[in-house]
Amino acid sequence: MQDLLDHLGRLDAPPSLQTLARLLETVQPSAQQVRDVRSEDPRRPYGRNVLLDTPVVEGMVATWTPGAWCLPHDHGGSVGGVRVLQGRAHHKVFAVREGRLDLVKEERVDAGQVMQCGSDLVHAMRCDGADEGLMTLHLYAGPIDHMVVYGADATYVVDGGCGAWIPTGRPELIRSRAQGIVRRP
Ligand SMILES: [Fe+2]
Repeated sequence: MQDLLDHLGRLDAPPSLQTLARLLETVQPSAQQVRDVRSEDPRRPYGRNVLLDTPVVEGMVATWTPGAWCLPHDHGGSVGGVRVLQGRAHHKVFAVREGRLDLVKEERVDAGQVMQCGSDLVHAMRCDGADEGLMTLHLYAGPIDHMVVYGADATYVVDGGCGAWIPTGRPELIRSRAQGIVRRP
């Protein structure tokens, strides 16, 4: 996994979604490497461990809090991929209509599998069922400048350094807020 991050860290142009997906599918992290990057944050849906942050690519490991959904969100136009490092993910994909989110896909994703995130993907994830061990490796090209996060009654644009939640207690991470579900405010 370190070889992958070193390789990406040397890039001076953003990799394509296909390249990121191929790298995520071929990387073979050891159990020890996965343990070493574990970073829990029980106050949030997942703990964020940023392993790589260059002008063209971002690498982050999420350690998921049992039972907690992250909020539906996009990645501000960045493309990327998510590999399940351990555990099993419950993944939902949405279409944003004016005033509501429609569920368009729901799946379980097992360790070793990769989810591709196109530039307009809106999705949400959590640990599947009683699974308490979910960890995911996220690679984004761009990197992520901001995300649109859909709360129960409002749409937020949050800083790319925030996770897929409303950053209560960190108002400086909220760039804008619009009432209701709004397509790309
Ligand atoms: Fe995401």
